[in-house]
Amino acid sequence: MNRSLIVAANWKMNGNLTLIKEMTTALSVVSLSQDTRVIICPSFPYLAAFSHAQEVKQLDARISLGCQNVSEHENGAYTGEVSTDMLQELNVDYVIIGHSERRSLYKETSTLVAHKVKRALDAGLSPILCIGESEQERETQQTEVVLASQLQPVIDEIGIEKFKEVVIAYEPVWAIGTGKTASPELAQETHQYIRQFIANIDQQIAEKISILYGGSVNATNCQQLFSQSDIDGGLIGGASLKVDEFTKICSAV
Ligand code: PGA
Repeated sequence: MNRSLIVAANWKMNGNLTLIKEMTTALSVVSLSQDTRVIICPSFPYLAAFSHAQEVKQLDARISLGCQNVSEHENGAYTGEVSTDMLQELNVDYVIIGHSERRSLYKETSTLVAHKVKRALDAGLSPILCIGESEQERETQQTEVVLASQLQPVIDEIGIEKFKEVVIAYEPVWAIGTGKTASPELAQETHQYIRQFIANIDQQIAEKISILYGGSVNATNCQQLFSQSDIDGGLIGGASLKVDEFTKICSAV
């Protein structure tokens, strides 16, 4: 099977140069298992600082830089937007796309998300595609319909062959920043559904794709989540801002 195990840090609109320095110092001595990849996704202004620190500290090649959003356009008159070319100049390899905060606060639709995924892939960046249901959708048994409606437009846009280059992050919206982690069993059940949804189109791709869990993951609950057969790591928000806690999560995967 051999799927990559990934721990990605989503700093959101937090962090500063001090945190970059502390995190890169800690990561330069962290012990990672062979198949593990660590991705740090700071805000745009800090990408250059991380990239520079990465060179200076000669971080393990398994530690990469990611960002939290990207424009769906190649370049041009789009004030406030950031292009894939700019990200590549700063050694960014991954980009979080369709985070629930982008979908709800900035009204990003699944169609826009699909365009962004295509743009990232066309430029050689790896998308971390976020999907997840709200509390109300879970309570009204809409979870599977919602997840399918977030996955299908992306598959339609890029085709299943390209989809194998996507990393999926399943993040139930009710678990993000709330301390209410999905139980390992519930997370596993949902990850299994996601993998089966892809397997219905292409079994081999489904087996290879990494599906991360996100939503109040911390150093205490990560081990149980990561030991589930369809959970291939995590997308970590709050806990990724604490150097000790985050490096513990990296070592646990
Ligand atoms: P959290 O955030 O770990 O703080 O819940 C996860 C995320 O939003 O990616």
